[in-house]
Amino acid sequence: MKKKIALITGTTGQDGSYLAELLLKKKYKVHGLIRKSSSFNTKRIDHLYIDPHNRTNFFLHYGDLTDSNSIYNLIHNIRPNEIYNLGAQSHVGVSFENPEYTAEVSGIGTLRVLEAIRFLKMKNIKFYQASTSELFGEKYKQKTFNEQSKFHPKSPYGAAKLYSYWITSVYREAYGLFACNGILFNHESPRRGETFVTRKITRFLTRKKLGSNEILYLGNLDAKRDWGHAKDYVEMQWKILQQKKPEDYVIASGETRTVREFINTAGKLLNMKIYWTGKGLKEVGYIYEDGRKRTIIKIDKKYFRPNEVDYLRGSSKKAYKKLNFKPKYSFINLVRDMIDEDLLLAQEELNKKY
Ligand code: NAP
Ligand code: GDD
Repeated sequence: MKKKIALITGTTGQDGSYLAELLLKKKYKVHGLIRKSSSFNTKRIDHLYIDPHNRTNFFLHYGDLTDSNSIYNLIHNIRPNEIYNLGAQSHVGVSFENPEYTAEVSGIGTLRVLEAIRFLKMKNIKFYQASTSELFGEKYKQKTFNEQSKFHPKSPYGAAKLYSYWITSVYREAYGLFACNGILFNHESPRRGETFVTRKITRFLTRKKLGSNEILYLGNLDAKRDWGHAKDYVEMQWKILQQKKPEDYVIASGETRTVREFINTAGKLLNMKIYWTGKGLKEVGYIYEDGRKRTIIKIDKKYFRPNEVDYLRGSSKKAYKKLNFKPKYSFINLVRDMIDEDLLLAQEELNKKY
């Protein structure tokens, strides 16, 4: 049987790397779009890459979501069966500093891919758009968000992604494309970028466990997020494109916790009891070391955003039913996975130092 061909934008990212792994396991030929960078940016996929002079099913191509020609040429040349559009400027905080660039990549970038499919008349391509719970910025009266909930983005990132959500739906309705939105709630892993809050915490606490003297500076500890594991969520990205009909799905754990709770859980797994005192910018987190109180976490207002999504909790009823969504990782196992990997990393760093 002919191998299926997939194109992944954002293949060097957290999700792109897990998705490439999954599709290779499923015997796909996988093509990844990567950005030119002056230093290597392929750390998450190096273990998958084989020199194309040898037999391989994994190919990398330079391109950029801001460059229509590179996208057009790539789709024209590789003729994929499935496209996963995961590429984005994905940091909400950064989107306030670089709103125009965020709109170009995370908004218009999606249009560029859809237009290439339409222009090339490759209507058989199935298209997945990485939509996000950041579309739901306002709680209104509901306890959970699902496919019918009202959107209210709170950041330039959320607004750019809302455009992508709608343009995906427009191309599905207007041109009959098999185009779907996966509205994914926060998902984390040991491969999470280190400026996102969960990984910032697990990297810090594991280094602290091994004796570092650093202090962790954070922003809003009261924000509530619905956290799942990226490995579970990329499987749903694939499943969404294997359905008979193109539809949109919410993927979430259904649980919500504050950033402070995430810290406490990670601390507990490391046998570090963290105590809290003070309010607002004066709040600090401390531990007892050799019987002495030691402050390890402080608040820095630079990590607060001009506008914040305070509460996220999703309902994946549709995905449970139609995609048989059964996440393998509970919240505690997600945090444990991150802690275990980051402990190894912290130990490696320490070994290099001495
Ligand atoms: P990530 O780790 O930040 O990865 C983003 C990817 O996009 C990276 O490969 C990055 O390349 C690439 N990229 C950035 N700008 C680009 C450009 N101009 N042209 C081409 N590629 C570009 O994000 P992630 O956590 O894997 O998330 C994957 C997707 O899902 C993103 O679209 C994100 O917005 C969305 N999403 C994520 C979550 C979550 O909780 N993780 C939830 C909902 C939706 P470099 O490696 O070169 O930077
Ligand atoms: N990054 C960061 N750094 N966030 C902090 C910090 C800090 O020092 N301190 C507190 N926070 C709070 C943020 O204000 C936010 O409320 C929460 O921690 C989570 O922040 P992030 O981990 O940066 O994730 P996010 O929820 O803003 O966005 C992620 O999830 C979205 C899905 O809901 C990203 O992956 C987006 O791309 C994704 O769409």
